[in-house]
Order: sequence, then structure tokens, then C-alpha cells
Amino acid sequence: MKKYLIETWGCQMNEHDSEKLAGMLASMGYLECDEKEDADLIVYNTCCVRENAELKVYGNLGHLKALKKERPDMIIAVCGCMMQQAHIVEHIKNKHPFVDLIFGTHNLHNFPVLLANCKEENKMLVEVWDEEGDIVEGIPVIRKYGLKSFVNIMYGCNNFCTYCIVPFARGRERSRKPEDILDEIKGLIKNGTKEITLLGQNVNSYGKTLDNSVSFAELLYMINEVKGLERIRFMTSHPKDISDELIKAIKECNKVCEHIHLPVQSGSNRILKAMNRKYTKEQYLKLIDKIKKEIPNISITTDIIVGFPGETDEDFNDTLDMVKKVEYDGAFTFIYSVRKGTPAAKLEEQVPEDIKHDRFNRLLDTLHPIVEEKNKEFKNEILEVLVEGESKNNENILMGRTRTNKVVNFEGSKALTGSLVNIKISKPKKFSLYGIIVE
Ligand code: 5AD
Ligand code: SF4
Repeated sequence: MKKYLIETWGCQMNEHDSEKLAGMLASMGYLECDEKEDADLIVYNTCCVRENAELKVYGNLGHLKALKKERPDMIIAVCGCMMQQAHIVEHIKNKHPFVDLIFGTHNLHNFPVLLANCKEENKMLVEVWDEEGDIVEGIPVIRKYGLKSFVNIMYGCNNFCTYCIVPFARGRERSRKPEDILDEIKGLIKNGTKEITLLGQNVNSYGKTLDNSVSFAELLYMINEVKGLERIRFMTSHPKDISDELIKAIKECNKVCEHIHLPVQSGSNRILKAMNRKYTKEQYLKLIDKIKKEIPNISITTDIIVGFPGETDEDFNDTLDMVKKVEYDGAFTFIYSVRKGTPAAKLEEQVPEDIKHDRFNRLLDTLHPIVEEKNKEFKNEILEVLVEGESKNNENILMGRTRTNKVVNFEGSKALTGSLVNIKISKPKKFSLYGIIVE
């Protein structure tokens, strides 16, 4: 049997695309393997959201050169967001000509045909679609985790934040039909899924492209009715599109977890405007107040970029102020990375690297004590935890997550994996909680 290895960079959307690639390969009779040396096929599913993700792909491709020389029959395929950009495809053609197949995000479903065609050719096969086609349903999927599954509800993005390459790599917004989403979820539950994460670049604008328009809130109510499902999560939400109807749905749907990932990106009105985020600091803070008032135990996480072109110390201080005012439960923090083809790449006032790094460190110095302090609030609380299995670092310790998405470690039998347990928190740590099982 032929063996494959897929490496994935980037977001959950990419992770889930790799689960589809794995599904298609399994139906072609391929088996997964762990070592490049054993693989008949290596697939790199790439990300282009920041430069360092791209550099990692190039580095990894460089390492494959010798292996390909040793085993010329091995097939190397590169796909994903990076491939949607012509200059990157050109770069791979010039620098890594031993790659056998290049395809993009819009024709992922054609992978089996592309693979068959590429085997017949003696040169690199490149097939990248500039535009998204219709949504293709029914692609086989092999999920990485049985217990927790990703479910796409929409693809693409229409927001064009000025720093972001995603709308160019993933095309315009389009939503799956609710019945297709519900069917997929019901199938997953039969196979042991307890928790789903609904995926979209901007889930709040779900449904706008459907003939019978359904809002994201309405979709949540529908999914909440599915028997056997324990938890519903979703990401990502754009602050400009959070409606009262959605806040009500999160509050009323018992399966929807008390966690919202609400990327703020910056706390400065000037920078938010330059980023084309379409909200002000004041509007964002008002929204946070409203959400906390309606759902008091909600956990709020965010994405923050430091060093956007033209960001001054004053702008950056506004971001620090935002972090202090919101008291985030967690944040993904990024140093601004110039993305060719985006409007911000053309701005002249790029912030010097040393200043970006200094601000990045100052951001973490502000953020981390807040996250730690928030964790301390859980001391002696009893929290519902979905057990995911043994902890990575310690075989005798189990790991699970609260509804608010906090990692909890505790002693217990591996047989508890997949069940909901109540844990009394004895030791809040910096980025996780420790506790004991209670009845
Ligand atoms: N530079 C740095 N961070 C970026 N992000 C998106 N584009 C860039 C960029 N050019 C971050 C944003 C987004 C997250 C997924 O990645 O914070 O929310
Ligand atoms: Fe990128 Fe903005 Fe769309 Fe998010 S909402 S994917 S940051 S353009």
C-alpha cells in the first residue's frame, strides 16, 4: 500500500482542509505514515498569513531536495493558501523545481484527479484556480480527533482588512446550506464526536449568500437541537457583525460554550481605521460590556497585531489600554508582517523591526499577568470539563477543557476520555488550571 504524509501550517481552516486531503487519500487506498523517508507522497498544506509561515514552507521544501534525488518516484505536492499567489508559484518553479504538483485552495476537491494526472506527467503540474467555484459537498474526511470536530459553515472573506491576505487566498464569502451542515454534524455524532467547532473567517455573516437566508444565530439554535452533541464552539467572529440576536443565542443555547474569540487587532482608532476594521475602540469596549453583562461567565480571547504601518507609541499604548480594560482570557499576538498584494504593504511608514519586537514584548508583559490573574479567580470553583485524554507531558495526568476553553489537568483514569467530569480547581496556573475530580 502507498503511504502518505501531510504537513500543515496555519489556521484551523487549513487543518480541516488537511483532514479532507487525508480522507481523499484514504479512499484512494493510501495509508498515513510518520516519517518522510517512508512516504510515497508528501503534501505540504501551506499558510501565507504571515511571512514566517512562508519561510518555514520554503525551508522544508529545501530539505526535501536530497530525499527526492534518492527516491525520484516519491511525489511532492504543495497546496493551500500560499499557492493562490502567482509570485509564490513562480518562486517554487525556480527554486524547487523537483516539486511534482501545485494546487490551490479552490480546487482542493480535485486532488485525486490532479494526483493521477501528475503521476503521468514528467514535469511539475500546476493547477491553481483564481476564483472560487461552487461549494463542493461530500468530500471524504479523516478527522484528527474523534471527540472534537471542525465543521466548515462558510468559506472566504469579504472584509479586506488592509493587512490581510486571506480574502485573496480564500476568495469571497459563501455559506454552506444549513441542511448540509446539520447532516454532517449528525454523522459526526454517530462516530463519537461530542464537541464541534463551526469554522468560518467571519461566522457572524453566515447565511448571507444563501437563497433562503439564515442568520448565524438561527443556525446555532438549529444545531443546539441536535441530540448527542454536548458542546458547540465557533470561530472567528468579527466585532463589527456581532448582533444582539447572536448574544441572545449564545446565552440561550445550552450547548453553545461561554467563549468568544473576538479579534481586536489594535486599540487605536487611527490604526483600526487604517486597518479597515470598521469599529472604534469605544464601540468594541461597548460590545464587550454588553456581552459580559448578558453572559457574565463568558471567556473572551482575541488576536492583536503590533507594528502595523504608522503605529506610534501612542497608538500602541491604546492597544495596551484595551488589553487592560477588556481583561482578556487569552490572546494570539502577532508582529505585523508585510503581505505582498495587500493595501497595507504599500504604506510608507513601516515600523522598524526593533520597535515592533520591543512593543511585542511589552504587550506580552501586560497581557500575561492579566491572564494569570483571571485564572486565579477559578480557585475552588467546580468546572465542567470534557476529557480529551492523557496530558502531553505527563502520562498519569489527564487533560480536558472547560466550556470557556481553558485547559485543565487532573489525575484520573484514561477510560474517562470523552466524558464530561466535574473538576474542583485546586491550583490555577499561568496558562492552565489544575484540579481534582469531584462527583
Ligand atoms: N501580519 C500579522 N498578523 C496578521 N494577521 C493577519 N494578517 C496579518 C499580518 N499581515 C493576524 C490577525 C488575524 C490572525 C488570524 O492573524 O490578527 O486575526
Ligand atoms: Fe483577514 Fe479581516 Fe477577513 Fe479576518 S476578517 S480573514 S483579518 S480580511
